[in-house]
Amino acid sequence: MEIKRLSFNLLILFSFIIYTNANAWDCVYSIYVETGNVPSGGTSSNITIFLSDNSKAQLPIVNLKDWGLMGPTHDYFGHGEVDLFAGKGPCLPGPVCSLIIVLDGYDSWYCDFINVTTVGVAQSCSQKHFVVKKWLDVNKGSAVILQDECSDDDDDDDDDSLKKQV
Ligand SMILES: *[C@@H]1O[C@H](CO)[C@@H](O)[C@H](O)[C@H]1NC(C)=O
Ligand SMILES: *[C@@H]1O[C@H](CO)[C@@H](O)[C@H](O)[C@H]1NC(C)=O
Repeated sequence: MEIKRLSFNLLILFSFIIYTNANAWDCVYSIYVETGNVPSGGTSSNITIFLSDNSKAQLPIVNLKDWGLMGPTHDYFGHGEVDLFAGKGPCLPGPVCSLIIVLDGYDSWYCDFINVTTVGVAQSCSQKHFVVKKWLDVNKGSAVILQDECSDDDDDDDDDSLKKQV
């Protein structure tokens, strides 16, 4: 009995590894970020984003600047500017529909919009335009923003309580 259960667990673990390997680095993400053209809208802080699909699978992109296409010396997130970022990552099962933005630093930022284009080898392209238009304000404790635009067709109680906490 015990052994049976153990091998079942191993099987689950094994198929999980296969699954993640098969999907590793198969998608290319291009991300446009526009910083608001408002006084002090720009920031020197680091920005991390988490992309999610309808199944709530999540792809973290830690420190967007590491994906910056304007070079390491460019001033990213400058007032009124559009910055371009791109990189490879595992494909999410569905198109991106939810975004978490996290500001890590000491000066606030006004994010106008974030555009995410996903291109996968065996997948159709998808594009999502997030109109954010919000301050990530280190002094007001709003340095994290959740922009969830996923449709709610698999609504259950757990999901609801989760949303209320966020
Ligand atoms: C941003 O990240 C870089 C690299 O990880 C680090 O050297 C720098 O101190 C960070 N800047 C801020 C404002 O946290
Ligand atoms: C972002 O996406 C929207 C809608 O798809 C598009 O109209 C806009 O031109 C895009 N902006 C950039 C900078 O790519």
